[in-house]
Amino acid sequence: MKKVELRYLSQEDILSLDIGWEDIIQRVEMALSEQAKGTIENPPKRGVHTRPDTFIHEMPVFLKGMDACGIKWVSGYPENYKHDLPQILGVQIMNSTETGVPLAVMDCRWITAVRTAAATAVTVKHCAKKDARSIAIIGAGVQGRMHLMAIKHVLPSLETCHIFDIKEKMLDDYAAQMPDKCHVNVNKFTTVSEAVDGVDIIVTCTQKLHEPIIPAGALKPGMLGAGLEAGRAWPADIIHGSDKVITDDLTQTSSYASTGAFAGGLPEFYCQLGDLVNGKPGRENDRETILAFNVGIAAEDISLGQYVYEKAVEQNVGIILPLMEMDF
Ligand SMILES: NC(=O)c1ccc[n+]([C@@H]2O[C@H](COP(=O)([O-])OP(=O)(O)OC[C@H]3O[C@@H](n4cnc5c(N)ncnc54)[C@H](O)[C@@H]3O)[C@@H](O)[C@H]2O)c1
Repeated sequence: MKKVELRYLSQEDILSLDIGWEDIIQRVEMALSEQAKGTIENPPKRGVHTRPDTFIHEMPVFLKGMDACGIKWVSGYPENYKHDLPQILGVQIMNSTETGVPLAVMDCRWITAVRTAAATAVTVKHCAKKDARSIAIIGAGVQGRMHLMAIKHVLPSLETCHIFDIKEKMLDDYAAQMPDKCHVNVNKFTTVSEAVDGVDIIVTCTQKLHEPIIPAGALKPGMLGAGLEAGRAWPADIIHGSDKVITDDLTQTSSYASTGAFAGGLPEFYCQLGDLVNGKPGRENDRETILAFNVGIAAEDISLGQYVYEKAVEQNVGIILPLMEMDF
């Protein structure tokens, strides 16, 4: 029997490939498109919960169109900053669709960070006003930073970011570092209400919340809102009063309603994000209020993971590890 080897890719190996937003967003669009067409096998996330408000999720998928297959095993621990560790981290495995053989084990932290922001950037492309100039970002962590970069990439008219975080140091670091990275003016705020006042786009990227933090009535005509905590950051009047509510995955998002993720219950969804990628109109006028709850789908991770794997093979990056040498 042939020996079997796999490629191990650390976060730093992946960073060394220098994959840019254009490619990241394209891989996410490919995944969303397949998902909306139904050409994927993508069972809903399952998980274990070792402490209150934590998760470790399994996320397997087969994308038939791009012939990519794999699984992500990702954890979310909001108190990890106390251990000097990120809230979100884990690994993903890429498998051969021909033989099932594992081809690579790779860090999933970078992939998760960028594909999540890329999904919001795709939402912005289809649902923000074309001349949107300002954004409020609530939560100045990994997603808060990635979102400003990805959204500026698809929305060059973006000039100003209002940032709010409950941790002063996160606010200060964000305001010090992001203007140079994104060429956007960053203004710090000490309350959510002030931060969201008068902007074109609001993104919440905090942690599992027990109460909404966005004030009632904050989503005014023409605005786009997006929440990474399913619906937990948003009040019932906005969830149920917006002209269009979209999600990247109807099944997965609906399953969160039973855990109280949407104030006032599950809203009626206009469509999935992939439908917009496939041609359904998003924003149709400058007065619509649109809200997006993208909960993250494995198709995005594995689509980007396949691209990472191909680049790593091309550039001979990573460590080759033996899985089996011979029959026993
Ligand atoms: N939908 C998806 O696909 C997806 C993917 C990755 C992460 N997420 C979610 O995005 C969120 C952010 O993830 P991250 O990796 O950026 O985490 P992070 O820990 O790096 O950042 C979270 C930030 O939010 C701040 N925060 C917490 N509560 C707040 C509040 N009430 N108001 C303002 N700021 C608050 C924290 O101080 C921290 O700076 C998490 O809820 C995570 O589960 C979603």
